[in-house]
Amino acid sequence: MTQPDIPSAPAAASAEEIHKRFGSTHALRGVGLSLQGGRCLGLVGRNGAGKSTLISILSGLVPPDAGEVRFDGQLAPSLGDVAAWRGRIATVFQHSMVVPGLTVAENVFLGRQPRHGPGLVDWRRMREQARKIMADWGFDVAADTPCGSLTVEQRQVVEITRALAAGTRCLLLDEPTAALERGAAQRLFARVRQLREAGVAIMYISHHLEEVFEICTDVAVLRDGELVLTAPMTQVGKDDLVTAMVGERGQITIPNGPGRLPRGPVQPRPGRPAGARRAHPTWSSARSAWRRPARPCPALIVAITPTRGVDVASKELLLAELDRITRQTGVSLLLASDELDDLGICDRVLVLVRGEIFTEFTEPPFDREALIAATEGLGVSS
Ligand SMILES: Nc1ncnc2c1ncn2[C@@H]1O[C@H](COP(=O)(O)OP(=O)(O)OP(=O)(O)O)[C@@H](O)[C@H]1O
Ligand SMILES: [Mg+2]
Repeated sequence: MTQPDIPSAPAAASAEEIHKRFGSTHALRGVGLSLQGGRCLGLVGRNGAGKSTLISILSGLVPPDAGEVRFDGQLAPSLGDVAAWRGRIATVFQHSMVVPGLTVAENVFLGRQPRHGPGLVDWRRMREQARKIMADWGFDVAADTPCGSLTVEQRQVVEITRALAAGTRCLLLDEPTAALERGAAQRLFARVRQLREAGVAIMYISHHLEEVFEICTDVAVLRDGELVLTAPMTQVGKDDLVTAMVGERGQITIPNGPGRLPRGPVQPRPGRPAGARRAHPTWSSARSAWRRPARPCPALIVAITPTRGVDVASKELLLAELDRITRQTGVSLLLASDELDDLGICDRVLVLVRGEIFTEFTEPPFDREALIAATEGLGVSS
């Protein structure tokens, strides 16, 4: 990819001509990209574009059907050599990979504990080293805490510390903020910046383009398993990215089938209120939920974080459709969300802080700053 600042630097990690099929799905079609130390590459694309598949291949979790992965120019270790992979690249997934029954220090040194001699783990040294790494990086989690009692944010800190302890200079983050509240996401951004400035190569997957603009130096767009755009962040705008994600015609097509939403009234199955079950947060599952034929027509649709994990183009369609359904049918919508963009279709917003209604906004359009302040428990209602 084009990285004019450091053209001759060897790539910390690179993927070359990667192909991967799952049955009839050609998930990756000849993808090549490289990660440079001191840079953060944002990887964006619609749901199913192949982002997580690429991460799995770069992490050594899944073998490619064709193509090569290299670290510092050297061919990647064989797939079974887990320790060698962990020393070269680390991945923070949306769903934590820490072992809940072990302490922070045990997780940080999982599989590679410092030893006194054969078979004897040096517990004291292990705790001290974990503490030192976290202190060096300003991470604030106690080494003796069992990981089962940590927050999502703290578990991510443990995973990043584990990567640093293994000497990893390459870090992949797959939708790391999806389960974080705003403050925690901001702290994660600060950590990502700090790691990048220290020379770590980072790849960052997110459906939130603002995040990509905030912390990435470069961006790559995957569409239907192909890399369709790579550029320094300064040379692209949000519209360029959305156009690249959606396709040349600039038209949003609904994946998986003919895919038009019903024009008639929405009629979920009786005895199963819409909000009682947590639907898998993808556009197609949301779509099939609306399609479920039954009667009688409900008085209320409950949508809980309906756009979480949904790509930016599908998100707009989904919100527009919710808006249309409520307007055309007279059904009420109760939408629970921590995404400000979701609130654009609401005509009343209640902000909950620590289990209580903190304030109410009744006049759209709602002021973003006022909403953010309210969610932090600050400010007065408009
Ligand atoms: N283990 C698997 N078995 C079968 N198909 C798979 C498997 N993993 C991924 N796929 C398919 O490969 C394609 C790429 O999926 P992938 O999860 O990489 O997309 P993604 O870009 O990460 O999407 P999202 O934004 O929803 O996370 C999709 O069509 C998906 O259904
Ligand atoms: Mg994914």
